[in-house]
Amino acid sequence: MDDVERAATRLEEVSEPTPLQRSARLSALTGLEVWLKREDLNEVRSYKGRGAYTLIASLSDEERARGVTCASAGNHAQGVAFACARTGVRARIFLPRTTPRQKRQRIAALGGDWVDVVIGGDTYDDAALASATWAAESGATPVPAFDDPRTIAGQGTVATEVLDQLGTAPDAVVVPVGGGGLLAGMLVVLAERASAARVLGAEPAGAASMAAAVVAGGPVELESVDSFVDGAAVRRIGEHPYEAVRRHGPDLTTVPEGMVCVEMLDLYQSDGIIAEPAGALATAALRQGLDLPPGSTVVCVLSGGNNDVSRYAEVWERALVHEGLKHYFLVEFPQEPGALRRFLDEVLGPDDDIVLFEYVKRSNRETGPALVGVELQDRADYRPLLDRMDASPLRVEPVSPDSPLFRFVQ
Ligand SMILES: Cc1ncc(COP(=O)(O)O)c(C=O)c1O
Repeated sequence: MDDVERAATRLEEVSEPTPLQRSARLSALTGLEVWLKREDLNEVRSYKGRGAYTLIASLSDEERARGVTCASAGNHAQGVAFACARTGVRARIFLPRTTPRQKRQRIAALGGDWVDVVIGGDTYDDAALASATWAAESGATPVPAFDDPRTIAGQGTVATEVLDQLGTAPDAVVVPVGGGGLLAGMLVVLAERASAARVLGAEPAGAASMAAAVVAGGPVELESVDSFVDGAAVRRIGEHPYEAVRRHGPDLTTVPEGMVCVEMLDLYQSDGIIAEPAGALATAALRQGLDLPPGSTVVCVLSGGNNDVSRYAEVWERALVHEGLKHYFLVEFPQEPGALRRFLDEVLGPDDDIVLFEYVKRSNRETGPALVGVELQDRADYRPLLDRMDASPLRVEPVSPDSPLFRFVQ
């Protein structure tokens, strides 16, 4: 707690507190008093500058002179770049080749001459290895994204700010979880200053490495990870975050990626907030219900807003599928004139919209397969559509979201 308080004092030198805002939409949706901690409005558009600045500002003069290094595909690199420009410390930041140009530009703009960006391999693991090698060769200090007490103390300042701004202890706090640094820092503060508050850690369903660690009794590597919620898609949580979770025992929940997308769209369309997938995890978790008395005060950490605009097409698609409004089918059409017209007249309902149709006419065959995507107005229209398909002479096979073919259409 002392470390967090020291970090909060240090951060006052370089940043303003982020706003804590009541969400009318989420309060109405849940019957709770929902507040958003707007970390997307930080200078680096996520809370990541807090931990990086805390670590770098605490280095000795000798360590500062040797510089720092990190590997990251996104927000952590921006936090380190920001911290280096503010402290006058040099950084060598290793990025995997897949890092989008927009992120490279943001890192360069935040770090200016203090930051040297190196494209260090094809994957994050390659970049991490290159960063570790550079640290060993040069004596540069590594800046871990989550598994370091200094990083964790910096992230904990999100909680001290929330308590100061709210002026009273909330009934619950919902925190997104990747490697667990933010959750660990906030747990320390809440245990000390708001011990009755329930803390809920929200992980993406495709990368629930904290839940896996709790089951296994320590951090374990997930066999596979869905990287869609990129900020929080971490294969193995940190030792320090695990220790904090073991000690304080927060509740944990997993949020399906499609539900994150539905929430990202609501944040954008209703509230005018650009949230990246990890940034929408906490508010998306509210959709699963919190089991709290009506009117309880809940703070959700909206942790970041670095969303590339080109991602919204996929977000829209995943949201429609999650809500049962978009479906794909393989349809065997008789290869005879009028077959498509009959499908339109007899199988599709008046409000069903074809959004994809891929068909190749085959010679010397009686039927030809088509991949058909249909968007419904209402999820209740799905059953009648399937019934009409069954009653028709066509052979129709729904494409399940788990199948490899579905990954092709998404
Ligand atoms: C926007 C955002 N939210 C949440 C997380 C998860 O944070 P942690 O690794 O501290 O659990 C990250 C991590 O990069 C992030 O960028």
